[in-house]
Amino acid sequence: MRIVRTIDDLRKARATLGELALVPTMGNLHAGHVSLLRLARSHATTVAATIFVNRLQFAPTDDFESYPRTFEDDCEKLRAEGVDLLFAPDERVLYPRPQAYLVEPPPIANELEGAFRPRFFHGVATVVLKLFNCVQPDVAVFGMKDYQQLMIVRNMVDQLNLPLMIVEGETIREADGLAMSSRNGYLSPAERAEAPRLHRQLQAVRESIRSGRTDFEPLGEQAMHELHGAGWKPDYISVRRREDLAHATAADRELVVLAAARLGGTRLIDNLELRAP
Ligand code: PAF
Repeated sequence: MRIVRTIDDLRKARATLGELALVPTMGNLHAGHVSLLRLARSHATTVAATIFVNRLQFAPTDDFESYPRTFEDDCEKLRAEGVDLLFAPDERVLYPRPQAYLVEPPPIANELEGAFRPRFFHGVATVVLKLFNCVQPDVAVFGMKDYQQLMIVRNMVDQLNLPLMIVEGETIREADGLAMSSRNGYLSPAERAEAPRLHRQLQAVRESIRSGRTDFEPLGEQAMHELHGAGWKPDYISVRRREDLAHATAADRELVVLAAARLGGTRLIDNLELRAP
């Protein structure tokens, strides 16, 4: 695996490679990332990854400084998956000056995650666009765990006519249902045992909808209430239509339930797609 740190070296390396699929990451790779790398491999002859902890998508109160940085371990995992190229710039490479040109995502970016992490998606969309411009992939793979991120990136690619295809990877779960995430490492043993409740609440909402309920807001509120009772601080549990993440109505069939909640000091997100009867 070739590791490049500068945009110049990246461009030179890219010129020697043919069709390329990219998996952008912030590092601290786990089985979820590995499944995205494998999916990338099935879409192109060469696979690249990026590791960059993007300050622009962290609020001042977020965990930017403490975000797990495990570069050597990550490289081992990438090598084991046969990744051809790793772009791992430091901040001075990607942001040599304060980033004054930013992607302005549509208003849906201010709901769900955006309501609790103001300007999060401005930061995500901006760095993803920069990474696409630097790496010039033919395909880029994003996980469905970050459902809203996936939709915003997909629409950005579509509306800005970027010459690449977005591919989505399934959420990979631990045996007890907890969605894999770099932030799971923050959980204490007791919190780790409690954490699958978030997935179970999503399943409960899904079952209620499958059995005919269309009062989506009370369903979300009830699920939040139950999480609260178990010691969580839920931010949202919301039933949306998949297409555009607008609030679901009784007429919508293709739905997704999205959730974010804090357990102790750790904020977890998850979602489940479903089809209403
Ligand atoms: O999902 C992530 O890890 C990040 O948001 C991404 C897409 C790498 C942008 O920093």
